[in-house]
Amino acid sequence: MNIPGPDYLVCTCMAVMYSELWQALAEGADLNALKDQFMIGSGCSSCIDEVQSIVHAHQKTK
Ligand code: FES
Repeated sequence: MNIPGPDYLVCTCMAVMYSELWQALAEGADLNALKDQFMIGSGCSSCIDEVQSIVHAHQKTK
């Protein structure tokens, strides 16, 4: 899978990597689906802005 840029930990609470989110987006997930699938934002929720920017970045590739 091609991801734009280096992989990194997006959600430290749930240990979710950028590449995992990108893969899910490529398979048709939206922000709510990412929240359900990876539980992102269910800890400290400091990652939500970053996740939203990843969703937007992915939309631009379509
Ligand atoms: S970093 Fe994602 S919920 Fe805390």
